[in-house]
Amino acid sequence: MRLSFSTALESRLPTAPRKALRPGGRKARVVAVAAQKGGVGKTTTTVCLAAAWARFHGKRVLVVDLDPQAHVTVALCGMVEAGGGALSEVLGDPAAHEVEEIVTSTRLDSLFVTPPDPGLIRLEDRLASRLGKERALRRALEITRSHYDLILLDCPPNVGSLTVNGLVAADHVLIPCAATALAVSGVGGLMQVVDEVRGDLHPELDVLGILLTQVDGRNGRTNAAISDMVTGSWGDVLLPVEIGVCNSLPQAQLTGRDVFEYAPSSRGAHQYRALAACLLDAMGA
Ligand SMILES: Nc1ncnc2c1ncn2[C@@H]1O[C@H](COP(=O)(O)OP(=O)(O)OP(=O)(O)O)[C@@H](O)[C@H]1O
Ligand SMILES: [Mg+2]
Repeated sequence: MRLSFSTALESRLPTAPRKALRPGGRKARVVAVAAQKGGVGKTTTTVCLAAAWARFHGKRVLVVDLDPQAHVTVALCGMVEAGGGALSEVLGDPAAHEVEEIVTSTRLDSLFVTPPDPGLIRLEDRLASRLGKERALRRALEITRSHYDLILLDCPPNVGSLTVNGLVAADHVLIPCAATALAVSGVGGLMQVVDEVRGDLHPELDVLGILLTQVDGRNGRTNAAISDMVTGSWGDVLLPVEIGVCNSLPQAQLTGRDVFEYAPSSRGAHQYRALAACLLDAMGA
């Protein structure tokens, strides 16, 4: 049974744990899609990349929705099957549970997602007092990652413990940034946390790059100034592909389908397809 828009946000009970999860034969690259600022295209980028890698590159892909807003399931509600369990339960006891236990499937054979979980809001507090709290997701992906080629983590719009868990679990971080001065100023906070995570917890964390999103081609001067601001602050981190304003992207989300099905010849579909290929090259995946 697929989800309707209205049922997409209902919470579900966790399934019974399968403690003896068998390792698979894959070794996923884990990509955190993170930004401190809200509304800059994290979820849109996560969902489009996941669909592109599953549809066009034959990859087995998992999207982990770390955001209590549960926008991954909202955006794909016409494709996600009901079922699965609560990520917060897994992260509350990562020694006993794996993310794979609560995953649900989609209409695309090789695309899987974690279900919506409003319990993630309370998890931030529960994690705060726990030893090793930053490593909960990393531990809970230890076996899960052997079942996928790529795992995307859709992070919430802040740099709290869920985002830190995402960064510690990831091999790479991708930072969407809307083409506005306010969004660029928000990148600094995340870069600081990335530096702290690299210094204290995970030195190998790789910054894939900053992705300019919602670029309005009519604002050539502003766009050039934004690019200068980014390179002036963080060097050569801008990805060669950028995403323009494209109404087909929000429209696809309204129908609960990915843009490659909803509007395959739209600008957004072409640009995200190019980005998907570019990132696979950059990761050697
Ligand atoms: N390139 C684009 N062109 C037009 N609209 C876009 C584009 N990218 C994203 N949007 C729309 O902008 C809104 C915010 O995008 P999205 O939800 O992906 O951002 P987010 O960073 O995940 O937000 P949040 O911080 O709330 O999680 C959505 O309505 C989405 O459909
Ligand atoms: Mg989001």
